[in-house]
Amino acid sequence: MEQYIITGGHELHGSIPISGAKNAALGILPATLLCSGVCRIENLPQISDVRNMLDILASMGVRIRYLNKNAVEIDTTHMQNVPTPYEMVRKLRASYYLIGALLGRFGKAEVALPGGCDFGFRPIDQHIKGFEALGATVQITEGGIVQVEAKDGLAGASIYLDVVSVGATMNIMLAAALINGQTVIENAAREPHIVDLANFLNTMGADITGAGTDVIKIRGVEQLHGCTYSIIPDQIEAGTYLALAAATGGSVTVTGVIPKHLESITAKLSEMGAEIEEGDDTVTVRRDSSVRMRRINLKTQPYPGFPTDMQPQFGVLMSMAEGTSILTEGIYDNRYRYVNELRRMGAEATVDGRIAVFEGVERLNAAPVHAPDLRAGAALIMAALCAEGTTVIDEIHYIERGYEDIVRKLKSVGAEIRLVEIPDGAALERAN
Ligand code: UD1
Repeated sequence: MEQYIITGGHELHGSIPISGAKNAALGILPATLLCSGVCRIENLPQISDVRNMLDILASMGVRIRYLNKNAVEIDTTHMQNVPTPYEMVRKLRASYYLIGALLGRFGKAEVALPGGCDFGFRPIDQHIKGFEALGATVQITEGGIVQVEAKDGLAGASIYLDVVSVGATMNIMLAAALINGQTVIENAAREPHIVDLANFLNTMGADITGAGTDVIKIRGVEQLHGCTYSIIPDQIEAGTYLALAAATGGSVTVTGVIPKHLESITAKLSEMGAEIEEGDDTVTVRRDSSVRMRRINLKTQPYPGFPTDMQPQFGVLMSMAEGTSILTEGIYDNRYRYVNELRRMGAEATVDGRIAVFEGVERLNAAPVHAPDLRAGAALIMAALCAEGTTVIDEIHYIERGYEDIVRKLKSVGAEIRLVEIPDGAALERAN
C-alpha cells in the first residue's frame, strides 16, 4: 500500500505546468472507436484512469502505441466489439462512454455498469433515455451488464435531458455522430470537456454544432476518419493548485491553462482575499499567509457555475477562513465524506445533507487520514500542506486516478511531500 507523508506549514512559490484534462481524455479515448483507423492523441494525462481506459480498449483488440509519456497512437482497425470485462470497467465511471461509442459504430454494446467515486446514487437513466430515443433497446441484466442494441438501426432524434448531465450529453454525442439524420440534445451540459469532445469528433469528420451551449446539434455523417488531436488542459487540476496556493500562502502560477475555464474558481479565491493575475495561458495566485482568508458562501452547479469537483478543495479553504462559511453541494447527495477526515485535523464543520457549515479555525493540525475519493484526496493534501506537523494520507490510489505527477509538481513549488510504500501487514496494524 502507498501513502503520502506530508509536512505542512510552508508557503509555496513557483509554477506548475497543467496536464491534459482527465474528463476530456476519458470521452475522447472511447470516441476513437467510432473510426476504423489511426488516431494520435496528444496532451494525454498520465494518470491511472487513462491507463485503465487504454487497457479496456486494448482488451477489444485496439492497438495502442505510446509515442511519448503524453501521446498515444490508437489503431482501431482490428478491434472487435466484445463484452468488456467487469473487473476493468468497474474501476472508472467513464467506462459508460464505451456504450455510446460501440452503439454508434456497431449498433450494439454490452458493457458492465460503471464504477467511479462514491458520491451516493449515480444513475445513468438519462444516458438510457438518449439511446432509446435514437432507436436502441436497453436492458440491464441481473449481473449489472448494460445491453444496448439497435436491431432496426439508429436515427436522429430530439432529446431533452431531465438533469444537466455531462456523461449523458457526451454519450449521446458519441452514439449519434454516425447515424442517419439530425440529433438535438436540449438542456445539454456545457463543460469545457464537452466542447473538447465535439472538437475531436469534428476533427474526425463529424458535424456537431452548439457544444458549449445548452442545445447541441449532431448531424450524422457516414463515416469518421483518424486524426491528430491535442486535449485541453485540466480545469480541475489547475483549480486545485490555485486553491492550494491560496491555502498555504505564497505565489503559484499554473501554466498551459485556459484562464476562462478557471473563472468561477478564481472569482471565489479573490473573494476570499487572494490576488489573481491572468496571462494568455497562465493564472497566478498570490496570498500573504500572515493574513487570514475571508469567509464565503459557495454552491456547486453545472458549468459555467462552480464545479462540484472543486468542492472539497474549497471545504479546506473554508475550514481555515475567518468566520462562518456555508458550502452547498448542488450536484451530488453524498460528497462530504472528507469532512470527517478534516475534523480529525482540527476543522470545525457540520454537515446536514447537501450543506456543510465551516467555523474557520486558525490552523489545522496533522493527523493520519485517508482519501475517501479523488478530489477529496487532493483536498486532504491541501489540508496537510497547511497543517502543523506531519500528516500521513492513506488510500492515495484515488488521487492518482486524476493528478499526473502530483508529488513532483508539488515538490517543485516547495511542498514537503513524499510517497512511501508500506507492507500491507503494517497498514492493517495501523488501521486496527
Ligand atoms: C462527470 C465527471 C465528474 C463530475 C461530474 C459533474 C467524468 C468522467 N466525470 O460525472 O468528475 O463530478 O461530471 O461535473 O467526466 N444524473 C442522473 N441521471 C443520469 C446522469 C446523471 O440523475 O443519467 C445526475 C447525477 O446523479 C448527478 C448529476 O446528474 O447528480 C450530474 O451528473 P453527471 O454530470 O452525469 O456526472 P458524470 O458524467 O457522472
